[in-house]
Amino acid sequence: MAELELVVLCGSLRRGSYNAALARQLPSLAPAGVRLSGAPAIDAFPLYNQDIRDVAVPVAVDALADAIRAADGLVIVSPEYNWSIPAPLKNAIDWLSKLDHQPFNGKPVAVQSVSTGPVGGARMQYHLRQALTSVDAYLFGRPEIFVNNAAQKFAKETQELTDPPTLDIIRKQLSAFEAFVRKMTGKG
Ligand SMILES: Cc1cc2nc3c(=O)[nH]c(=O)nc-3n(C[C@H](O)[C@H](O)[C@H](O)COP(=O)(O)O)c2cc1C
Repeated sequence: MAELELVVLCGSLRRGSYNAALARQLPSLAPAGVRLSGAPAIDAFPLYNQDIRDVAVPVAVDALADAIRAADGLVIVSPEYNWSIPAPLKNAIDWLSKLDHQPFNGKPVAVQSVSTGPVGGARMQYHLRQALTSVDAYLFGRPEIFVNNAAQKFAKETQELTDPPTLDIIRKQLSAFEAFVRKMTGKG
């Protein structure tokens, strides 16, 4: 079976991010036929402005678009800000949505969130699903991954996610997502 190439996009920009830590850990939780690599950074994206777009697409925007176009699928790992999508991630989606050969079109996408609160980012995920539907992504359904109370689930020194049931459900999601991507892309 051909290996699948997935890109992992993180919605948090901060150095000590729990979501970035989970994103970095995903390769160790993925099934054998899946290769995961980090997406190009979104922190240099200007705030979306049609006037900038009309002059030239920023290099960082093109870099992310190319990485997503080349991948078989995308995993987005993001916090929830004020019950919704963090501005840098929404800004990145807005930029990509205005490109020729719009990179989300027909792209399988799975979503995960980590939060220090009890809800685990669920409200962000449903806003994200709505935005991604508008750009014709193929959204993976279940199992969903909401990592709540992050401070109790990540090791303080190493930032490694150590909670066994959470690790188990993430492994299950990545396996199910592999099957979904193969079905959607025809890559057997
Ligand atoms: C501006 C802001 C808004 C936040 N709003 C929420 C929220 O609505 N729900 C939630 O569960 N956590 C919220 N949090 C707390 C985040 O879950 C927490 O800061 C988390 O560590 C962010 O993810 P990161 O560690 O990957 O940066 C918010 C944090 C910030 C900075």
